[in-house]
Amino acid sequence: MKRIRSVGIVGTGSYVPPKILTNSDLEKMVDTSDTWIVERTGIRERRISSPETTASSLALPASLAALQSAGVKPEDVDLIIVATSTPDMTFPSTACFIQDKIGASRAACFDLSAACTGFSYALETGQQFIATSTYKTALIVGAEVISKVLDWTDRNTCILFGDGAGAAVLQPVADNYGILATSLGADGRLASILELPVAGCIHMSGREVFKVAVNTMIEAVEKVLDSAGISQEDVSLLIPHQANIRIIEAMGKRLNIAQDRVFVNLQKYGNVSAGSTIIALDEAVKQGRVKDGDIIVIVAFGGGLTWGATVMRWGG
Ligand code: ACO
Repeated sequence: MKRIRSVGIVGTGSYVPPKILTNSDLEKMVDTSDTWIVERTGIRERRISSPETTASSLALPASLAALQSAGVKPEDVDLIIVATSTPDMTFPSTACFIQDKIGASRAACFDLSAACTGFSYALETGQQFIATSTYKTALIVGAEVISKVLDWTDRNTCILFGDGAGAAVLQPVADNYGILATSLGADGRLASILELPVAGCIHMSGREVFKVAVNTMIEAVEKVLDSAGISQEDVSLLIPHQANIRIIEAMGKRLNIAQDRVFVNLQKYGNVSAGSTIIALDEAVKQGRVKDGDIIVIVAFGGGLTWGATVMRWGG
């Protein structure tokens, strides 16, 4: 029987492409307005990658930054898991391309699909490998070039998303630190309200997704806090999926977590799908909003429908 040990994030990194698409740029492309987009979503601008850019090319700088902040060499990485809905190819996996680009020659590699919840699913998957001592170091990546699977004539969806990547290094940490509890869920009966067909574009019933998103994310957060024996008041920072400010505010209110303890960066990037929460976590770390001993909650939802929450004590 392999030993169960505590596992935590020991380094983060992120990268977004330089090209900014503002709401006023979108006004020239579809029948929309800056006012509508800001009021209904909170998004002001998003990043769009160049035609030759792939998920792995965005993941490269994010991964190198995460390894550097963890003080880990690429050759010491045992496992790479990439959460993405916009892989470079169906195969090889995007994880294999990243392995080659960063020189992590010893790493096992695979991609994982859970839409915008992808990073939460990948984090828990990586955690399991390390907790059981199968591996010591995992690189968990959320990377998307979602701009390439949007219908740029559909105002219901094209205003919502953006490109980017984030990465986290997972390793064993001191007892009582790291990931304390995770809750993952899915409801395949709701598959059709948010979908990306093979070789197609994203379709979404926004209003239906909105309702399910708020309820499932609240339940997932309550569940992980309960499992970890932590109260809502003890949450230092909630890092929600960055899809819509109204979803985030509704969730914070119902969970009794004041907005100053909720991290928001969707105004700059829109919804980066599987990249969303890890880019937000990396920015929170860089802004000094995550300190040793802090209780951090990551929560996401997405196509599937899928959802997931993770509570962790930072540091150790
Ligand atoms: N500009 C102007 N008007 C618009 C736009 C736009 N970009 N998009 C829709 N409208 C119109 C609609 O056509 C509708 O007009 P009508 O009343 O004449 O029919 C009106 O605005 C209201 O539309 P609703 O869809 O009801 O607007 P709502 O307030 O629900 O906001 C939104 C829409 C922003 C999509 C919201 O429902 C939402 O955020 N839902 C959650 C979506 C989400 O988070 N998706 C990501 C999931 S993550 C993943 O896995 C990919």
